Amino acid sequence: MRIVVGVGGGIAAYKACSLVRKFTETGHDVRVIPTESALQFVGKATFEALSGNPVHTGVFADVPEVPHVRIGQEADLVVIAPATADLMARAASGRADDLLTATLLTARCPVVFAPAMHTEMWEHPATIANVATLRAHGSTVMEPASGRLTGADTGPGRLPEPEEIFALASLLLERSDALPRDLEGRRVVVSAGGTREPLDPVRFLGNRSSGKQGYAMARVAAQRGAQVTLIAGNTIGLEPPAAVEVVHVTTAEQMGTAVDKHSVGADAVIMAAAVADFRPVNVAAAKIKKGAHEPNSIELTKNRDILAGLVQARRDGHLAGLAIVGFAAETGDEHGDVLTHARAKLARKGCDLLVVNAVGEGKAFEVDNNDGWLLGADGTEQSLDHGSKALLASRVLDALGPLLR
Ligand code: CTP
Repeated sequence: MRIVVGVGGGIAAYKACSLVRKFTETGHDVRVIPTESALQFVGKATFEALSGNPVHTGVFADVPEVPHVRIGQEADLVVIAPATADLMARAASGRADDLLTATLLTARCPVVFAPAMHTEMWEHPATIANVATLRAHGSTVMEPASGRLTGADTGPGRLPEPEEIFALASLLLERSDALPRDLEGRRVVVSAGGTREPLDPVRFLGNRSSGKQGYAMARVAAQRGAQVTLIAGNTIGLEPPAAVEVVHVTTAEQMGTAVDKHSVGADAVIMAAAVADFRPVNVAAAKIKKGAHEPNSIELTKNRDILAGLVQARRDGHLAGLAIVGFAAETGDEHGDVLTHARAKLARKGCDLLVVNAVGEGKAFEVDNNDGWLLGADGTEQSLDHGSKALLASRVLDALGPLLR
């Protein structure tokens, strides 16, 4: 695919280098178009070396090839990172005073802006209006991350991490349409990762969930405009998604407490976490040692089912109107195939949607791609095509939208 990476003039321009690298490493043909001021932060040679293509900022280089029109027309995706307040203002008003803005006017492919600026600039009515205009024009403007900005200030306006921009850009290539803003004003709770049930201060019972699918759910929901709380169990060093509140927990009991607390007033809960069904009855205060008192078995007790608890609370009228999504990682066995088990689980759990993944043989756990089925309480069944975890998340959210009160 032909990807244009536009780079605005902000300190986060250095992160565009990692982004360019990710695109070239995944086999894309990348053209980097910086603004003149972006070159104050990162040199032209860096972008040329990373992309393997010439880099220009103005419309008067290679004139016979008409690059100010051709690059945009031929692009499959344009990603602007960092998108500064000034660059978005110029793009929103249709200016074409450099190669990048001219390219934006001629591009008919998906366009993603990854904003980076100080909080005051992001929250200024002029920027808010420009973002709304760009979205109305069909572009995807990402929610920025919160955190440390240049200097000591913190707040929303930080460039989302390159991995996150890459994930969202790849999702747009897979979906081939702009990301809808259909979750604006909605509160969504997502659980992710595996829980750990301690045996002693150094050992635990855990599972192979990486948290990647839950993080993708949270990330895509936030970028569709939802206010998202992510209850994260153990994950493999994942970056917190931009514009998402992350609550870290360890055990199933802690996860249950956090999910219960944040579900109050939420529109949807998505239980992507792999919650341990059992925990050790006794947790040793000191490390269990070899020697005189070696244990030869671990006595277990059942954890409560968080998902079933939510469904019950809704039946009892405590969480009226809450949409509830469960996940099921299944293997077939002598009693039935994956879908047979999944249909039974949906009926047993009583949630509105069940996302079903077949696991084993390197599928679903720890990997970046996923597929499966989406079963609805109304009897609908949809297969979820193989693709990124963000694509699967996005399909689940497509189905969830109409279920929200
Ligand atoms: N779940 C939960 N609380 C638990 C166990 C599971 O909320 N104590 C949720 C998971 O987050 C997931 C769904 O229930 O959304 C299904 O999880 P799974 O482990 O497949 O279901 P179980 O009920 O444990 O079914 P089984 O072990 O019989 O396959």
